[in-house]
Order: sequence, then structure tokens, then C-alpha cells
Amino acid sequence: LERIQQAYPEGGIYVVGGTVRDALLGMGGPDLDLVLEPLTVFASQSNHRRNRLDELARQLVGWFGGSFGLHVAFGTARVKLGFGLEVDLAEAREEYYPHPGALPQVRPSSIARDLERRDFTVNALALRLSPRLEIVDLFDGLADLEARLLRPLHPLSFVEDPSRILRGVRLAARLGFRFAPEALAQIPSAVQPEVLAQASKSRLRDELLLTLGEASATRALGLLAELGVAEPMFGMGASPQVREAFAALEPILQTTSDPEAAVAARLYLLLHFHPDPEGFLTRYNLPRRYAEGLRHLRFPPEDPDDIRKFVGLPEAFRALHPERALWLLTPRRMLMGRDLLEMGLPSGPKIGEVLRKVAEARLRGEVLSYEDELEFARKLVSDA
Ligand code: CTP
Repeated sequence: LERIQQAYPEGGIYVVGGTVRDALLGMGGPDLDLVLEPLTVFASQSNHRRNRLDELARQLVGWFGGSFGLHVAFGTARVKLGFGLEVDLAEAREEYYPHPGALPQVRPSSIARDLERRDFTVNALALRLSPRLEIVDLFDGLADLEARLLRPLHPLSFVEDPSRILRGVRLAARLGFRFAPEALAQIPSAVQPEVLAQASKSRLRDELLLTLGEASATRALGLLAELGVAEPMFGMGASPQVREAFAALEPILQTTSDPEAAVAARLYLLLHFHPDPEGFLTRYNLPRRYAEGLRHLRFPPEDPDDIRKFVGLPEAFRALHPERALWLLTPRRMLMGRDLLEMGLPSGPKIGEVLRKVAEARLRGEVLSYEDELEFARKLVSDA
């Protein structure tokens, strides 16, 4: 940051977002977000036109090594520095929403307009680098940071983007923040069916998966229920049963540092208790591998359509060695009916029988990969 200060004494470069919030809380983060005021705003102080985004990205790589990718259309660049730090650069921009819940459109703007479009006051703090270091606090974010309150910047913030509720829940669970009264007041209108129907599903999905990946996911789940968000947003409450299952999963998850395994395990648990897991996966466009993993984690039921008759996941987890449970939960390729058809097994009850035997072998730890499963199934087929 000192280097940037010296090289760009004319200013217009800011540290923004979670980095500032976390730094003020005394926590270090894995990356750095910088915002540059664009030429249109900056022209009066700049006597020659240049692409500051491109220039700063090159400059950083020149100083510290590494590489960068530029997205001119979005006015952003991502720089991966030689010593591992990732720096996101973006031109200051403002967003406008064509209709509630839609993905916003953006256009270049000032730092003030850039900060104004953000979710919570504690996330709308910026650190101006030059001419001197200075906190830019346009919305009393510092006071809210001290009081550990999540306060949206305007009354329609959650209606415009309901995924911000999930972002808030994640922050509350991770950092021990609370929703300010203004935030609580706007939740009910933001989770109305017609608002959620318009909301960006990919944003909701991404925020859900991020939440499930955090160590504080169980707390976040409880909070979603308390705020009355779980049911309208995800079609299920966070019943005591679900929360208990989440808590039971924790010791298993502590045996891994693989964040993907944690996300998958918690998602499987949610799906296990969900009244319509297939509908949930489709609605949020979740990766199909989760649906397939879920089907194969359970013994094939008598009635393949009734997913709720399957063997209970949490019980199965408890009986297993943690490493086995995690291995089972990590999404990966598993034997499917169509593999058996390709082996020449005619469609019919035999397919279900072989799949069931493979699933049993999987739980006993006798097959450890897709190749093992193919091999195991081939043997069953040829014996038959
Ligand atoms: N943001 C927002 N609405 C969203 C997503 C993001 O207003 N739906 C804003 C937030 O103010 C956030 C900034 O965009 O500070 C950058 O988002 P992101 O990179 O996801 O979060 P960080 O702040 O970098 O970090 P963290 O996840 O730790 O909060």
C-alpha cells in the first residue's frame, strides 16, 4: 500500500469492502480489494489519458511478481502477486437495478456512489491511500462496527437483493454481529414469494454455499431459522432435528481441512431433511453431482421415487469412522445404473440389486473409487 501511495500521489485509490472491516476488527484477510476512481471522474486531475486499472495491475506485478487478468468490459482486474496475495482492482462504479431482484447494471462513478451501492454500513467503509491514509466513513460504519451491528444502507437493500440477508447471516455467525432494527424490519418484505421469484438464484446459491463452508455454519443455520428466512428462501425450516444433525457433523468435519468436503457434507444434511430435495437442487441450480451423490449415499430404496424412505444419513454418519464418512460425503464419481446398462445388464430389477450391493460395499469401505465400483459390479454381473 505504501508503494501505491508513493506511485500515485494524486489519489483516487481506495481499499474497500471486507478487507477494511476485518482490518479494523484486527483480523487479517486472504485478499485485498482496491477501487480506482475512473478517468471520467478523475480527468480534472489527470493531464494525460491512461488506463489506470491496467497500469496499476502491471505496476503491482512489476513490483512483486505474479500475474494478472484484466476484464475491460467489467472495469476489473485480478492480480495474483508473487508472494501469494490476491488483489482485486475495480473502477469505482454505481449500480442500478432494472427491476427488483434483477442483477444490477453498472456504470463508472465516484467512490461515494460506489460505496453507496453496498450492503451494510460496516462493508461500506473505505481506506483512502493518498494524499494521506484516511478512513472514508460516509454511513457511520465505524459506529456500527463498534456496536457490531449490520445496518443496510437503505430500506430497499434486501428487496433489491435478498442474497444480502444471507451475507448478513454469514457475517453475524462468523463475527458475532447482530442485525440492526432497520435490517430486521426489511426482512419480511424481502422474503415474499414474488420478490424471491425475481431474485438472482445464482447469488442465493453462491451465498448459501459460502455459508455452508464456514466453521460457523451451524450458528448461521440457527440464525436463518430465527429470522424466519429458511422456510421462504429454501423451502425448509431449520428444525431442532436439522440443527442437531449439523452439530453432530462438526466433529467429523474437524478431521478435514478440505472446505469442499464441509460444504458437501452440510448440503447433504440439508437435502436429507428437505421435503423436496430434487426441487431444491433444481431451483437453485446446484451442481448435479450433489443429487447423484445423495442418491448413491443411500441404499437404493424399494420405491426409487420416495427419497424419504432412504436410510438416514446422520445415523449412518455416526456409525462410521470419520474418515470414511467424509470420503462418502465428498462429491465424486459413483457407479450409476447407466454404467450397468453399458456393461450389458438388461434394464430391470437386477440393476437395483447390483447398485444396492455396490452401495453396501461402499459403506463397508470395500470400494474406494469409481474404478473399484466398476470392478466390483463387473464381478457381480459376471457371477450372475
Ligand atoms: N456486496 C453487496 N451485495 C452483494 C454482494 C456484495 O453489496 N450481494 C458488496 C459488499 O459491500 C462487499 C463488497 O460488495 O463488501 C464485496 O463483496 P465480496 O467480495 O463478496 O465480500 P468482501 O467484502 O470482500 O468479503 P467478505 O466475504 O469477508 O464480507
